[in-house]
Amino acid sequence: MNNITLTIIKPDAVKDGHTGAILEQIEKAGFRIKALKMKHLSENEAGAFYAVHKERPFYGELVAYMSSGPVIPAVLEKVNAVAEFRNLIGATNPANAEEGTVRKRFGKSLQSNAIHGSDSDENANIEAHFFFSDSEIY
Ligand code: RTP
Ligand code: MG
Repeated sequence: MNNITLTIIKPDAVKDGHTGAILEQIEKAGFRIKALKMKHLSENEAGAFYAVHKERPFYGELVAYMSSGPVIPAVLEKVNAVAEFRNLIGATNPANAEEGTVRKRFGKSLQSNAIHGSDSDENANIEAHFFFSDSEIY
């Protein structure tokens, strides 16, 4: 699959009731939703998803946060999806994100930054299949 990215609306944004506003912003920016679900990750599942960050000092906190409540993963399609989506969500730290980006609007802190976006085409495919089987991606 090309031109796809995997997003996750993170626990705080779901809990605070921002799911609809975030999905609206995503669709208005021209992304097509190819798959969508709600899921409460176990610590093991969150740890596996963020395994690339295993050696980072924030890994334990990140895993605890991402398994703290249900999240909303989605597969999104657009030309140049990975880069376009990272532009839409803004910088990792909401304090540094541009005005109007998802993280500026809904992020609360470096950790509770509202949303995830894949960082490469290769990882987009791996991450999409972490949450969805081929038959669940439309
Ligand atoms: P993401 O993977 O969630 O889309 O975020 P990203 O690429 O912008 O940032 P990344 O470096 O991949 O970090 C993954 C997530 O870990 C948390 N984080 N905490 N305490 C810290 O120093 C720190 N740095 C990163 C954030 O929730 C970040 O989104
Ligand atoms: Mg990342």
